[in-house]
Amino acid sequence: MIEIIWLGHGTFQLKLESGEIVLIDPWINGNPKSPQGFKIDHIDTMLITHGHFDHVADAVQLAKKFKPKVIANFEICAWLETKGVQNTGGMNKGGSQTAGSLKVTMTHALHSSGIQDGTSMLYGGEAAGFILHFADGSKAYFAGDTSVFSDMALYRELYAPDLAFLPIGDHYTMDPRQAALAARLIGAKTVIPVHFGTFPILTGTPAELADLVKADGVHVWELQPGTAVRW
Ligand code: NI
Ligand code: MN
Repeated sequence: MIEIIWLGHGTFQLKLESGEIVLIDPWINGNPKSPQGFKIDHIDTMLITHGHFDHVADAVQLAKKFKPKVIANFEICAWLETKGVQNTGGMNKGGSQTAGSLKVTMTHALHSSGIQDGTSMLYGGEAAGFILHFADGSKAYFAGDTSVFSDMALYRELYAPDLAFLPIGDHYTMDPRQAALAARLIGAKTVIPVHFGTFPILTGTPAELADLVKADGVHVWELQPGTAVRW
């Protein structure tokens, strides 16, 4: 059993069976959908999919405060280290590593990953996603920001994730129509939609996705920011 708390947009806190806290794509300050009054008081593992501000804005501050293992691509980890973050685990697509009881595999994503640092845009490697391998054998696919791509079928063949976190907002990522195809390619029976509604431009809705995947028997699990659910 894993506790999942959506912190708005693409940010999630997971509490593993072991009690370990995993924070994914930390964007708290300035996140319009960040739940009011939510306090992060501990982080064991931080995962970062790519370098855009809405996925790393609070990474340096939180990593320095709570000293988690920080897992991201090699370039983002190198940048974090220049900011004084320790205990990074830079990796690349296809690779896996273990942090506590969680194993992660870095997947492809069709997106960009520049890091805004002051007035400069730094090279942030390539955008990625993660397969999360939990201690009980269940697996989730955390797509990160991405378009749909046919290699999601390979991740189904390799890992058969039970749950998928998919962006649906459009404009910067896939829209509900692409997400419906992504759900089919990855084969997950439950989809948590993310990266929508934060700004008016992110127009995709969970209802649209639910309509499109109904025939496939896929459950669209719409979370409320700040409300813990169990999976
Ligand atoms: Ni992005
Ligand atoms: Mn984004």
